[in-house]
Amino acid sequence: MPHAQSGPLPVLSPEARSAVEARLAADRRAIEGALGQFLRADGRSEERLQEAMRHSVFAGGKRLRPILVLAGAEVSGMPAEAVLPAACAVEMVHTYSLVHDDLPAMDNSPTRRGLPTCHVLYGDAVAILAGDALHALAFEVLARNAEVADVPADRVVRAIAELATGIGIRGMVGGQMRDLLAAGQPLAGADVQEIHRLKTGALIRASVRIGGILGGASPDALDALTRYGTHVGLAFQIVDDILDVVGEEAKLGKGTGSDAAQAKITFPSVFGLAASQQLAQDATTQAMRALEPLGPRARWLRDLSIHLLARDR
Ligand code: IPE
Ligand code: IPE
Ligand code: MG
Ligand code: MG
Ligand code: MG
Repeated sequence: MPHAQSGPLPVLSPEARSAVEARLAADRRAIEGALGQFLRADGRSEERLQEAMRHSVFAGGKRLRPILVLAGAEVSGMPAEAVLPAACAVEMVHTYSLVHDDLPAMDNSPTRRGLPTCHVLYGDAVAILAGDALHALAFEVLARNAEVADVPADRVVRAIAELATGIGIRGMVGGQMRDLLAAGQPLAGADVQEIHRLKTGALIRASVRIGGILGGASPDALDALTRYGTHVGLAFQIVDDILDVVGEEAKLGKGTGSDAAQAKITFPSVFGLAASQQLAQDATTQAMRALEPLGPRARWLRDLSIHLLARDR
């Protein structure tokens, strides 16, 4: 078992908390506006497929990954608007991963983001294709970030490689495979950490790195963002596991108890709830430490990691 360290729980002051909430709301508005442009019904392509894609993307979601793209760019001195296409790209990939994760052949989940899942409404075949189409659209939109003035094409090429690596066999999809294979098996703590680092951590880390890459972060700054993304990604999935046990369905917008029902290997199943909470806190503390070399410009990323630790949805 990873050794849980006990330290003070990082908390936000009431002022910092409202500042985080205001910032999240503003970022979400900008991201949803841009997503709306990229997913506009054009009356030409397959209508039902477009409807299924839009259903899942606009069902509501925290938009964490695109928010991290914007933050990674800003820390590197690039205005958030310049990387909105890349931000939308990671949200499209994330949404595709959820549509497929929910399929009967995977987690068989009936609700997502407070609504029936894509396959429940449109059938398995359309849900598979909606995921595929979002996956493809993500790379088209990301490539188009090179059309934004002041975003050099070579950075966009690096960002494309970053996303592909983060979500492929050595990233998200590899983690999803391990998650499926591990269900019902006795596992050690190191294994569950590795599953979480891959299935969820890799895209979260890639998101903040993509922001840094597009923003022209120095190697040291990119290293700090990478370590931050790794720790936040792990903390995020630990909290997701905890909420599957103790969370409220109405807030989460998805069913709870589903991990236990499927004998999934999760932090609470391996370590228990209290140690899992402590391990999420430790990962958050490490994320905050990783930002230290960036100084005050990393304040937003720091506060965001604290906010995510206390989330209930
Ligand atoms: C859910 O992600 C799946 C995980 C990788 C834990 P989120 O909790 O970010 O889901 P949305 O995007 O807010 O719906
Ligand atoms: C999902 O993990 C990770 C993905 C890559 C989609 P979970 O299966 O725990 O996510 P939820 O709980 O269904 O959102
Ligand atoms: Mg899953
Ligand atoms: Mg799932
Ligand atoms: Mg889960």
